[in-house]
Amino acid sequence: MTETADHRDSYPPSAEFAASANADAALYERASADREAFWAEQASRLHWHQPWDQVLDWSDAPVAKWFAGGRLNVAYNCVDRHVLDGHGDQVAIHWEGEPGDSRAITYRELLAEVSRAANYLTELGLAAGDRVAIYMPMVPEAVVAMLACARLGLTHSVVFAGFSPTALRQRVDDASARLIITTDGQWRRGKAAPLKEAVDEALFANGDVPHSVEHVLVVRRTEIEVPWTEGRDLWWHETVAQASPEHEAQPFDAEHPLFILYTSGTTGKPKGILHTSGGYLTQTSYTHHNVFDHKAGQDVYWCTADIGWVTGHSYIVYGPLSNRATQVVYEGTPNFPDEHRHWQIVEKYGVSIYYTAPTLVRTFMKWGREIPAAHDLSSIRLLGSVGEPINPEAWRWYRDVIGAGAVPIVDTWWQTETGSIMISPLPGVTATKPGAAMAPLPGISALVVDEEGKPVQRGETEANGYLVLDQPWPSMLRGIWGDMERYRATYWERYAEQGWYFAGDGAKLDADGDLWVLGRVDDVMNVSGHRISTAEVESALVGHSGVAEAAVVGASDETTGQGIVAFVILTAEAKDTGTALVDELKAEVAREISPIARPREIHVVPELPKTRSGKIMRRLLRDVAEGRELGDTSTLVDPNVFEAIRATKA
Ligand code: PRX
Repeated sequence: MTETADHRDSYPPSAEFAASANADAALYERASADREAFWAEQASRLHWHQPWDQVLDWSDAPVAKWFAGGRLNVAYNCVDRHVLDGHGDQVAIHWEGEPGDSRAITYRELLAEVSRAANYLTELGLAAGDRVAIYMPMVPEAVVAMLACARLGLTHSVVFAGFSPTALRQRVDDASARLIITTDGQWRRGKAAPLKEAVDEALFANGDVPHSVEHVLVVRRTEIEVPWTEGRDLWWHETVAQASPEHEAQPFDAEHPLFILYTSGTTGKPKGILHTSGGYLTQTSYTHHNVFDHKAGQDVYWCTADIGWVTGHSYIVYGPLSNRATQVVYEGTPNFPDEHRHWQIVEKYGVSIYYTAPTLVRTFMKWGREIPAAHDLSSIRLLGSVGEPINPEAWRWYRDVIGAGAVPIVDTWWQTETGSIMISPLPGVTATKPGAAMAPLPGISALVVDEEGKPVQRGETEANGYLVLDQPWPSMLRGIWGDMERYRATYWERYAEQGWYFAGDGAKLDADGDLWVLGRVDDVMNVSGHRISTAEVESALVGHSGVAEAAVVGASDETTGQGIVAFVILTAEAKDTGTALVDELKAEVAREISPIARPREIHVVPELPKTRSGKIMRRLLRDVAEGRELGDTSTLVDPNVFEAIRATKA
């Protein structure tokens, strides 16, 4: 450990790790000497049915074309080629079910399963370009379903299985999905919770307004009873499982749409982030190889995300499988049947690379170090963090307690929109600092600028730095599904003059020039690494007949990063209903959006702080929620409203 100029500890890589690391410092030089040649070299790690004519076509900015003219099949790259290369017997997925059942699936078996699914989806009449919604827990068939779509050029839209029927319906309608793939139910802490039922609820919602869905394909997982619509609903085991395991993958254009993934923005309507094939796979594969130092056939890799989020797409499915990883996929929660579960899994499979979110690290800290200490974690040689800033204390605990005080930690900054990791240390190269994402990866360019776009100076305080990406990158989003105007307005308007992508995050450079991402600067909250918009929660609250007005803010939370705090004004009829209504409102938000969006606190207030133009001043509400001194209140219509709001908090 060494002290750097601004007195933060720095952890250089061990000589031993550096000697056998996939990455070396020359990567940065090669990338900056010729960015396009560098990305072409990365793309060559994949199998192309037809090579590209042009690495990058940015003439239609901000919609990029990468590897234009090239043709490939994403699933072929993730499965077939490993079998053809003689690795059919290597385990692709060590799947661990929550109740304790498990399955090892080799690449050969994965190929057969993906082929069966592809054959059956074809039999259903689905063709390249059609959309398929996937609403499934972490079962192997979820990965198979995604790969089968990729294989056929179907665009998948995975909807987190914790989302409500309303949220599912909204996403199904937005993308006009022809098929929904789901399970009968999902295991949650020893109980089978219905899921197919939620699909039915979604499809019969809105007074049975017509929808695009022709079939619902159901995997049996929990064996609970399910509602059934003859002709529409199909059992996976009666259809897919009976189909032929032989299927020849056809190539698709590098820019063929691979998936849509919805994420929260600053309005109530989620954005369907669109990703395409060649550039996306190139960068997920490259980053997985270098950032995780992954060695095919040797490492056992475990990313604890859910396929419902982008981390599951890029670092459970596409990145790792393209690199012939052997990985753990776990169905359940970290504390079922008890808090030892993750470490038992690490021991059982000899996990060597472990990638999780800071919120979970902080939860482990709360549970106590004696829990991991009861297990042999010596197989772990690299740790990763994603989803929110990791506080230095959690970083050190992670390294000391889980990483034996020795292994590198990669703090990876990226977004649903970026598709792959953008800013991260390179293990074996970077001397890391607790809490810093450090620097853009080779091939990636990022700046920290002020409101006007002027680069901020090193060592400047956190005041006003914004993170921007000033060069296109292969796995960048290609738009917002059905709303290209919103795409331009959300990401490209703020720095239109310079042509930069605005990430929505605040950032700073320390005295050494290393980059620290500080969190969102817009009305998006980050709760346990999940992006939730204040507007979405507000709209769920005002959807309740007892609420006249609502304002929602994210307040710091020791475990979850941010917690949701709502301020509501009740309707005249609902006044005097007291705490029962507050509980009901929390339940309503969980029902309307997802349990992850359930507010931590709801305060009934007589008034909300507004500017003369009627805008709610969230900044001041955040001050109240966090018990801080109030910031500038001079633009408020009625500065006294805070006395009343404070009184309700006391
Ligand atoms: O605010 C940043 C935060 O998560 C946001 C992206 O959320 P999402 O699209 O859901 O993707 C999460 C998984 C990639 C970012 O705008 N974020 C993500 N990683 C980090 C982070 N903030 C700080 N440090 C990180 N390593």
